[in-house]
Amino acid sequence: MISDETVDRVREAADIVQIIGEHVPLRRTGTDFRGPCPFHQGTHKNFSVSPRKGIYYCFVCHEGGDVFTFLQKRLGMDWPGAVRYVAEKVGIPVEEVQRRREGPDPRQPFWDLNAAVADWFRITLWDEDEGRAARDYLALRRVSRDVADRFGLGFAPRDPEALRSHFAALGYDDTRMLDAGLLVQRDEGGDPRARFRNRLMFPILDAAGNAVGFGGRLLGPGEPKYLNSAESPVFSKARLLYGLHMAKHAIRRDDRVMLVEGYFDVVRLVSAGFDWVVAPLGTALTEQQAALLRRYGKTVFLLYDSDRAGLKATFRSGDELLRHGMSVQVVTLPDGEDPDSFVDKHGGAALAAPLGDALDVFERKVQLLERAGWFADLRHKRRALDRLFPTIRATQDAITRDMYVARVSTASGVSRDVLERELAARPARESAPGDQARDATGPSNTRPPRGPSRRPPARRPTAPLERRLVWVLIHAPVLRDVVGEQVGADDLTDERYGKMLAALVASGPDGTAQQVADQLPDDMRPLFQELLEEPPGEGFDASREAEGCVTRIRVAPIERRLREIQREVPIAPDDDAKNALIREKEQLRDERAALGGGRMKSFDLGR
Ligand code: CTP
Ligand code: MN
Repeated sequence: MISDETVDRVREAADIVQIIGEHVPLRRTGTDFRGPCPFHQGTHKNFSVSPRKGIYYCFVCHEGGDVFTFLQKRLGMDWPGAVRYVAEKVGIPVEEVQRRREGPDPRQPFWDLNAAVADWFRITLWDEDEGRAARDYLALRRVSRDVADRFGLGFAPRDPEALRSHFAALGYDDTRMLDAGLLVQRDEGGDPRARFRNRLMFPILDAAGNAVGFGGRLLGPGEPKYLNSAESPVFSKARLLYGLHMAKHAIRRDDRVMLVEGYFDVVRLVSAGFDWVVAPLGTALTEQQAALLRRYGKTVFLLYDSDRAGLKATFRSGDELLRHGMSVQVVTLPDGEDPDSFVDKHGGAALAAPLGDALDVFERKVQLLERAGWFADLRHKRRALDRLFPTIRATQDAITRDMYVARVSTASGVSRDVLERELAARPARESAPGDQARDATGPSNTRPPRGPSRRPPARRPTAPLERRLVWVLIHAPVLRDVVGEQVGADDLTDERYGKMLAALVASGPDGTAQQVADQLPDDMRPLFQELLEEPPGEGFDASREAEGCVTRIRVAPIERRLREIQREVPIAPDDDAKNALIREKEQLRDERAALGGGRMKSFDLGR
């Protein structure tokens, strides 16, 4: 048997419109969705689905029920099967329990405690002497009492004992406060202390309005600027959105939502009359948050900072939202502004202009690439495509995807057929970020936007070889000259090894370890020491080792370019371009052969 609590959670989390929408074509009408009734095979739109109530109903045949009933009646699932099917979709684990659980939700004590603590923080902020600094801070940031109260803002006192003693007197035990992440146990045997001290407190509610945790901001400089409640049975940073409880009705009503980066952005925008704003809790938008938002509305306006980091977050979140079938608009604020500072400075009405100028996320990406000249030559074009493809692949909505392909085709001059073929091919392994930096001197020195989400971290395929080479030269000084003639610091992808190589070559065969170390920046000494202390083993053949490393390091960029060419051929605009690539390929193959292609000229120095 599945517990009632689980069933409720699954029903609550289910996107009934999406699930029924897989079987019935639905269109929004007001707050509900309508379509032809699948039960009496109706052709008119008499079948209604209400996401708010979580139910469906046919006005003609009077068939109705919840998401589970639909799956039972329509697909012939049995009831537990329907629950499990939906639970799978929303990522809630279903465990069987022996007996039906009666009584209150086990999370209730956490909600009660958080609500009580929020109250206490609020009173401390407004009625206590020690709340003065926080009151001044709010005044400085022009947040009125009225607005602060709408969000239940509070202040966590400086005294690490205060929360515990206050709530112990009210009968709350340590265990509960520890489990709720409000107290932390610093050391074995010591008294638990308050997690939040001397911070402005933002209570965090889940979509149903339960108090689940807090975000706390330091009043002055210091780290971390923001601190969240610890993960607990009710608080999961990746699954919550700040402000959703307040915004959900407006989001449903208008089928759109503004996504901003921080607590203050939400507070400022809501107080300026925008009641459709939410923010993640200091993380990039997660899969779960995108799924949660999708339940309330389809169009998302992203209002992130206009700096590089903000742009990167914009595109990452954009891909996540596109994966959930949403439509994504990017709002660009003037340089250096976030929504909070912008509205504080110019007033809420001024936001109409940037909102009106919002661009589809993909269009924005193409625009940035175009402006930076990334479609000018074949080599960059290929890379631009590789940056755009993941977004197209993420796009669930078929019509939107089609538009995107058409847009890239126009921008790049590559036909839609070729683009589709390339899109269907195995995704390219992205070029290493090291290349990118070098490439910034390409058609324009504006760096293009960073690639899409899920990009693997910096790949430096030759770094282990570079490390090995440096290590050899440390232990076989006699090879330093000959290696120095073959490779320079620039040939190495890892800057640290580049510097070490330069220092080793400069010290020459007679240079001592100390002399080499002296040429290195302080922060590289530990790494150098580490290499120094790795002894060469029995039968160490320095000459052969060095030779192998040098060749592979020199061949690597040739191999990389050869792989690129392979990918540029299909998008080459004409035969001339194709022939040029083929000639380049032949030349590179010759170079590779000259380097030895595995069989090297020997360094006749070793022992
Ligand atoms: N954040 C966080 N931890 C930090 C910094 C930020 O969790 N050390 C989260 C918070 O949710 C914050 C959001 O990231 O609201 C945005 O942070 P940031 O851009 O640094 O600050 P602002 O929202 O502009 O905050 P403020 O205006 O208070 O400086
Ligand atoms: Mn700010």
